[in-house]
Amino acid sequence: TASAVTASVASIALAQNNRNPFKSQALSPKIYKSADGLLKLDLEAGSHPISLGGKRAYLLGYNGQVPAPRLEAQAGDTVRIRFTNNLTQPTNLHYHGLHVTPTGNADNPFLEIPPGESLTYKFTIPKNHRSGTYWYHPHHHGYVAEQVFGGLAGLFIIRGELDEIAEIQAAKEEFLVLQDFALDRNGRIQSPNHMDMMMGREGELLTVNGQIKPTFSIASGGLLRLRFLNASPSRFYRLALENHPFYLVATDGGALAEPVEFKELLLAPGERAEMLVRGEREPKQYRLLNLPYNRGGMEMMEDEMGMMGDSSHMMGGKSQVNPQILATLTYQGFVSTLPLPKQLIPVETLPEPKTVRRLELSMEEEMAPGMGMSFTFNGKAFDPNKINTQVQVNTVEDWELVNVDLDRMDHPFHLHVNPFQVILRNGEPEPYRAWKDTVLVRGGETVRIRIPFRDFPGKTVYHCHVLDHEDLGMMGIVNIQ
Ligand code: C2O
Ligand code: CU
Repeated sequence: TASAVTASVASIALAQNNRNPFKSQALSPKIYKSADGLLKLDLEAGSHPISLGGKRAYLLGYNGQVPAPRLEAQAGDTVRIRFTNNLTQPTNLHYHGLHVTPTGNADNPFLEIPPGESLTYKFTIPKNHRSGTYWYHPHHHGYVAEQVFGGLAGLFIIRGELDEIAEIQAAKEEFLVLQDFALDRNGRIQSPNHMDMMMGREGELLTVNGQIKPTFSIASGGLLRLRFLNASPSRFYRLALENHPFYLVATDGGALAEPVEFKELLLAPGERAEMLVRGEREPKQYRLLNLPYNRGGMEMMEDEMGMMGDSSHMMGGKSQVNPQILATLTYQGFVSTLPLPKQLIPVETLPEPKTVRRLELSMEEEMAPGMGMSFTFNGKAFDPNKINTQVQVNTVEDWELVNVDLDRMDHPFHLHVNPFQVILRNGEPEPYRAWKDTVLVRGGETVRIRIPFRDFPGKTVYHCHVLDHEDLGMMGIVNIQ
């Protein structure tokens, strides 16, 4: 009931957030759209002073922006990005979730662009590509967490069938890029220590589109389409609107068959979600909250800290005890007059495959002393010269992802190029069918995914999207032939 909702809202401890004096309106980011079948732009990665919550922060940006400019294209378009690396480290670009070729100057995680050098990316988005909320970020092994934590991340939107549904078209569209930062007093990014990296670095400064607690308005008539990206390297967001429901209409890889109602939604690093929100309740305002979530691994951290006499300053997972305010949604009208869509886009049923592979996600003691832990698939840390998984082109496979960590640390699993569907979680079927490219495998869980490898032969990777885990070895190479 309304009073129950109000009471629980009032009881939420928000002291830490209310002390923050910075409130800002969401700014429109720079947008590059394709025209006549071509998305063409220059993109530069570099270190820039950026105003974050009214303070100067020295972040890493694409074209000086955090988050990066939003790219928008359509199925069938060609993409040409002249990319320049003005960072002090090697880097490259990954088009997260896009079903495009992993070879050549396309979504190729093995490319290396040294500092000061340029490379032109060029690829074509297939004509049957699903519309959705994709993104881009650096992917040079060993530097991924650091560069993404510096701010390098932007949306890559494919427009298409979901945008054409009348009810979706009538809704007001907002993009919400979630990033967290750890800054010192001079506005410089804090370096993580070994513990931070094992746990996955997190910062206390939470931003939405580079803003602290921005306000979004729901147009009169009241239907808002929120398109979320978790661009944090390790932070999980357990999103809720103060006990008010929202309706999931799309996941990582595009639309669902119909909207699904949620009271809260967990967004692991790398994941996206599109939700519809109705403006229909007093006091004409919803706060978008990040509820506490324990992503595990603390026992290991405490043991190691005891051994090493270390204490961590930005330790993830444990840092958040109270709900945090991410943004506020306000609206004029009392009652939402716009209807929710009943049907969205049918999600294909994949054939049951003959091949089932088992992949164990785990943390291993390093042999060399002082090396701490390494993060692995099937006991093996990433080796750029080894193929871990050989797959035939034009097949469908089931992969059984088994999180065997003794410390029950969560790992969001991401596969490049080939979107998949989650079939079973701990033996239970998923409540709805959806296209994903990143799926959370909680500590102790077994998740079965079904992957069509239809085209795009070549080598690509899968990895944990807690990006420090990826840099510490939790990545494997799949060769599709
Ligand atoms: Cu968003 Cu391989 O990463
Ligand atoms: Cu992980």
